[in-house]
Amino acid sequence: MEKDVPPSVVEACRAILERAVEKVGRLVREAPEVWPFYTEGGRWIRGGETWTEWCQGFLPGQLWILHDFTGEAFFREEAIGRCRALEGRAGDPRVHDHGFLFRSSWLRWFEHDGDPALERPVLEAGRTLGGRARGGGRYLCSFLGDHSLFIDIMMNVGVVLYTANRRGDENLRRTAMEHCRTTRRYLVRGDGSTLHEGIFDAVTGEFLKPSTQQGWRPDSCWARGQAWALHGFADVYRLSGDPDMLSAARAAADYFLGVLGDRVVPPNDFDEPGEVPPDSSAAAIAAGGLLLLADQLGPGGGRAYREAAWRILEGLASPEWLAPPGPLPEGVLLHGIYHRRKGLGVGECVAWGDYFFLDAALRVLQEAES
Ligand code: GLY
Repeated sequence: MEKDVPPSVVEACRAILERAVEKVGRLVREAPEVWPFYTEGGRWIRGGETWTEWCQGFLPGQLWILHDFTGEAFFREEAIGRCRALEGRAGDPRVHDHGFLFRSSWLRWFEHDGDPALERPVLEAGRTLGGRARGGGRYLCSFLGDHSLFIDIMMNVGVVLYTANRRGDENLRRTAMEHCRTTRRYLVRGDGSTLHEGIFDAVTGEFLKPSTQQGWRPDSCWARGQAWALHGFADVYRLSGDPDMLSAARAAADYFLGVLGDRVVPPNDFDEPGEVPPDSSAAAIAAGGLLLLADQLGPGGGRAYREAAWRILEGLASPEWLAPPGPLPEGVLLHGIYHRRKGLGVGECVAWGDYFFLDAALRVLQEAES
């Protein structure tokens, strides 16, 4: 592990986590019923439109991160309470988000305590997501139906692989890897850019057409999808050792960084013309993915990706993107987007933006201290 994290990056990551101690601490003390999703006017929605229920793992995830950062028992107790509250979601057949839900929450708890009982919900979550194989077993379908494959599922398929690895379940492993190969083949283009969604024949697995939900057009590149791809393929490479997954992660990362250029935050869609609002959550997800990719490549090969992640995190810690102290906004990272077309959470804080922001910041601090 490299230990030469620049002092300015360490300082930035501390500032991010200290701001989260204040914001998340206040939220769980003063509004314990709230599960962050996206903000409206700086306040996490209390009820209202969610489109799909995929965000409940991010609060316990942030609480575990803050426990690691501060050592405070308070954050651990709060994290455990939120984990217990979402345990029943491990078998939820309505979503494709079991990785988001259970790796940030119960898997972190299991990794802290090592009690095998804590791993059970994670393994159930992996089996549930593995049960979404469609198209003759070629892909795991999105919550929208049997015909739909989202790039986002690359961030969730890791829980299926984790389960397969822990259980020695070859069938489950094949299901997960088949999904990743299908995603790579049809949703990652030759230049490393990605489609958001592929529409398939749910029986034969034939690819029919590109589509999108949150991007500009079916053939455009939704920035958060690109970030999910780079992070997700790097994660799957870590869990599988399959070199095709590493090359997909690198292609997605190189495309993301190439079109990002000197900017810290991408627009919602890289291809949409005109004034397009930024999505800071895509930058935070990409920073974490770049750190992960750098770890896989080792000190020599990964250096440029690590430095790119540092640059993004340092930029996100500036007042332009890091929420000011105080009760509002309730989130940590400013100017995210949930669903532009539906008008949800545009220019607001979003739960996954905060989670991956904190996750990346903590990883940099741990690296600096190792
Ligand atoms: N559902 C995942 C996302 O909005 O990025």
